[in-house]
Amino acid sequence: MTSPSSQSDREKVVSKLPPWLRQELKIRTAQLRVDIQDAVHQGIAHWSALASAPSPVDTSGAESFSTWLPAGQWESFRADSKDRGVSLIQGLAQSVRLWLELNPAPSVVRPSVVRRIIVCNQKGGVGKTAITAGTAEALAEDPASLHPVRVARQLARLSTDDVQPDPGTTPPDLEDLPGLGMRVLLIDFDPQGHLTKQLGQQPLPIGGDSLTCHMAGEAKGPLADLIVPVPDDRFGDRLHLLPACTDAFLLDVRLSTVRAREAALERALSPIESDYDVILVDCPPSLGLSMDAAIYYGRRRDTEQPGASGALIVVQAEDSSADAYDLLTSQINDLRDDLSLDIDYLGLVVNLYDGRRGYIATSSLQAWMDIKDPRVVAIVPDLKEQREAVRVKQPLFVYAPKGDQAVALRALAREIS
Ligand SMILES: Nc1ncnc2c1ncn2[C@@H]1O[C@H](COP(=O)(O)OP(=O)(O)OP(=O)(O)O)[C@@H](O)[C@H]1O
Ligand SMILES: [Mg+2]
Repeated sequence: MTSPSSQSDREKVVSKLPPWLRQELKIRTAQLRVDIQDAVHQGIAHWSALASAPSPVDTSGAESFSTWLPAGQWESFRADSKDRGVSLIQGLAQSVRLWLELNPAPSVVRPSVVRRIIVCNQKGGVGKTAITAGTAEALAEDPASLHPVRVARQLARLSTDDVQPDPGTTPPDLEDLPGLGMRVLLIDFDPQGHLTKQLGQQPLPIGGDSLTCHMAGEAKGPLADLIVPVPDDRFGDRLHLLPACTDAFLLDVRLSTVRAREAALERALSPIESDYDVILVDCPPSLGLSMDAAIYYGRRRDTEQPGASGALIVVQAEDSSADAYDLLTSQINDLRDDLSLDIDYLGLVVNLYDGRRGYIATSSLQAWMDIKDPRVVAIVPDLKEQREAVRVKQPLFVYAPKGDQAVALRALAREIS
């Protein structure tokens, strides 16, 4: 059935397609960033060009499906279907299957050097652990299914000076996008072990091997033996965790006698780096030798593009965050100068934002936006699902995969990719 009320030179076509084939088409077109109508148009063109009709497709349960095709294509498709003795529904299903066969899912593009993201701020409770976990979960999500992502409209709008929007209450623009499919390792670098516990995992027992032992050069076994998977179908086997151990409370003391101690984290992690695309380090709320080692680990390596690895700083829209930020950036700048390193800032995440708190919140947000380098890469609202996920010890993306928090963190993961 066609309708003359068309989009420019296209006409509307209404037919039927089995739901599974429609879903595959939706995912593949999203993966390849192609319009569904263009895919159907190409599929029908290829089908018509075949010497004979391919094997039948099971069209049972087919449901109404409409799209837009170039004027005249549906009429000639109708004639071809008649010649081949197949129904329009069967011909359309074969065309869509053919397009899927000719346009396979793209493989995930993996970085040549493992990306290292150091999530830091010595100010406590700003959301470092929440942002680390959520970003890692977003990076590891299944690339063969679609997930709602908040599109960048809010950040773009915020860069204009004349508007004062409220990202905490403005309804987000959503787009369903394939997961990023990265192999991700989370490092719980905080002796408090919040990240480990939030993900429902156990801290490593004291007295055994731990990251601290590896950094101090006193480990008995390989580091890989300490790593555990974060299980869920949406992550496949792509999301792993190196749990915390309370012995890290003494890390600074133990590092004080280690040679080239800034490089201690890098030495400890180098044997497992090739197993991962991205490593995220959840830092403790402190500044010290262990933070030097984390920042050093996030420095730009010789073969790396600027901005591939670096520090992601989590802040809040309030005055006390600004002082903490100055201290952290001076530590980073000192390390940069003392050791002649390139250390990139991946951005600022303004977390726990609630514009209803009034002038302090909105003016602080503006002050973060005004810094520009590093730029604000995400504004994450204060939402209850984050606290609830922590309470039930589940990854946020398992507890509330479609919630506003997950939607915002997927956007953050893409913003810094
Ligand atoms: N966007 C958010 N919305 C609601 N709650 C949040 C959000 N971000 C973090 N939280 C909650 O705030 C609390 C502190 O967050 P988190 O533990 O991530 O901070 P932190 O900076 O890692 O703290 P610490 O400095 O102790 O390591 C936690 O209960 C967390 O669940
Ligand atoms: Mg923390």
